[in-house]
Amino acid sequence: MKAIDNILQKEELSREDLVYLLETRDGEERTALYSCARATMLEHCGREVGLRGIIELSNICGKNCLYCGIRAGNREAERYSLDDNHVLEAANHALEHGFGSVVIQSGERHDKAFTAHITNLVKQIKKLGNGALGITLSCGEQTEEVYREWRDAGAHRYLLRIEASDRQLYRRLHPADSNHSYDRRMEALKVLQQLGYQTGTGVMIGLPWQTTADLADDLLFMKGLDIDMVGMGPYIPHPDTPLSHLSASLPSPDERLELSLRMIALLRIMMKDINIAASTALQTLDPLGRVKAIASGANVFMPNITPAGEACKYRLYEGKPIFDDMAVSALESFEKNINKLGLSVAYNDWLDSRHHSERMHKAKNTGS
Ligand code: 5AD
Ligand code: SF4
Repeated sequence: MKAIDNILQKEELSREDLVYLLETRDGEERTALYSCARATMLEHCGREVGLRGIIELSNICGKNCLYCGIRAGNREAERYSLDDNHVLEAANHALEHGFGSVVIQSGERHDKAFTAHITNLVKQIKKLGNGALGITLSCGEQTEEVYREWRDAGAHRYLLRIEASDRQLYRRLHPADSNHSYDRRMEALKVLQQLGYQTGTGVMIGLPWQTTADLADDLLFMKGLDIDMVGMGPYIPHPDTPLSHLSASLPSPDERLELSLRMIALLRIMMKDINIAASTALQTLDPLGRVKAIASGANVFMPNITPAGEACKYRLYEGKPIFDDMAVSALESFEKNINKLGLSVAYNDWLDSRHHSERMHKAKNTGS
């Protein structure tokens, strides 16, 4: 009997188990891990993969995360903000192609003009198709008041990656100032949960200084926070960032891809009914990266539907694909690939996280 057979029978995976499964080089164990993740997904999430169209609203950001290509300090980045017509055009594209929902992603800003603009966009997108489109926001840390305003306008899901759950690692990846506080990020995640958002977080995988024990802790962190959705993917260096000089010390691209897929598989086994996205960054490392993520337990596909022309400026990392996700053929080829896995696309469905419904139900019953 292989070590993995013992491990996968357990109710709860320990830190040591997770490290073992992230590191094993045994081919049979690797196959067993992915099959277990797929079986878990089928049992707890069903055969359908959700579709969310990502609209990259603006690459103007007030922060200076040391890994990110659109950090405020990068003078090379050409800045843009989509005008409302372009956003609504993208949302219409989503609607017409049966995408259940859209994600509005943007650099972080706190000025009133920005927060009011998001409120207004959410309201306009809600009106399209009479509320048919679900709306996820990913616009960074905001005050409770702003999160409330956006929720009341119609947003129901929010993505805020913790990036690295270890405090020390977080500190090394961000400038040491109050604008990049680990505690404030944690606080924001708690507020989002309390406001009833389906709350998502995630980490980057294969970061400088990151160990497999850190990754195991990231998984335990997400479980501990009882998160509803996760988007995580490989770290990909960007040449115009302070961390780029560490590129030579990173795991190889193939290793980062493999680690990312294992993280997805392990999280699926640990948190059976959450939504896990196949991240765009995976596609940078492998043209079939997102299909492989689905085969490893992810159940949400997020095509980029930012109007061409601007999409190439949202350059978080080097080689970010400007694949033509808008093209109907891209979706068709994705669909064919997942059909081969016995899965299908959930058209016109918000595909809410089952975990969230359970969490809300429990909270109601316990009065908490
Ligand atoms: N590599 C991979 N992902 C990155 N992000 C930012 N920079 C990079 C990079 N160099 C991710 C962060 C952020 C999201 C918008 O993009 O996790 O939350
Ligand atoms: Fe801004 Fe997000 Fe990039 Fe940090 S990771 S610089 S908050 S866009």
